[in-house]
Amino acid sequence: ILLILLISVYCYLLGSIPTAVWYGRRFYGVDIRTLGSGNAGATNTFRVFGKKAGTIVLLIDAWKGFFATAQAVILYRIGLVDLETCITLQIIFGFLAVLGHLLPAFNSFKGGKGVATLLGMVICLHPLAAFLSILFFVITFVIFHFVSLASIVGSFTFPILLLFETFGKEYPLMIIFGFFVTSLVLFTHRKNISRILKGTENRMYFIPKKQ
Ligand code: G3P
Repeated sequence: ILLILLISVYCYLLGSIPTAVWYGRRFYGVDIRTLGSGNAGATNTFRVFGKKAGTIVLLIDAWKGFFATAQAVILYRIGLVDLETCITLQIIFGFLAVLGHLLPAFNSFKGGKGVATLLGMVICLHPLAAFLSILFFVITFVIFHFVSLASIVGSFTFPILLLFETFGKEYPLMIIFGFFVTSLVLFTHRKNISRILKGTENRMYFIPKKQ
């Protein structure tokens, strides 16, 4: 129990690492939260500092979620917990990393929107569902060019796919968690949603549009 508590704190602190804020301060001397959409996440880093910076922040933020979730697998592999407990702990540890990203202890609790860290977590939790979520993300992005909308669609895809795959029998906890976290993603994107409805949301183009 003590070990699980310690790992939980560690996962929250790991999620709290404000990659986008530190990267912006270290390499550009500015706080990303004062630029672009004001969000301390990979999308805004792409928007403000370019592809290289955005990719680095995306990979680190996703790694936080993946690594936290993987702690449960390590406990399982060394025989400290059974498979069922492992799945529960994966969800707890991964979620704590996402929570750390949203409400970081290192940054006066003003974090990002949780999508990249959630992605890392889901890759560890269920790689196939994660891959299909990414596919739906890409399709939505290519059609609409809104990262926010693509993130929302991608997050919804995860629990819906699990539901179809098992009809709730095999992964009830993962499905409940999936829908919970999707609601959280809707909440963290509330300003994006209102901008999309007003027609003022920022579009992003990976291949610059011809004038
Ligand atoms: O992951 C965040 C993304 O979905 C939206 O970011 O900067 O456009 O608000 P942003």
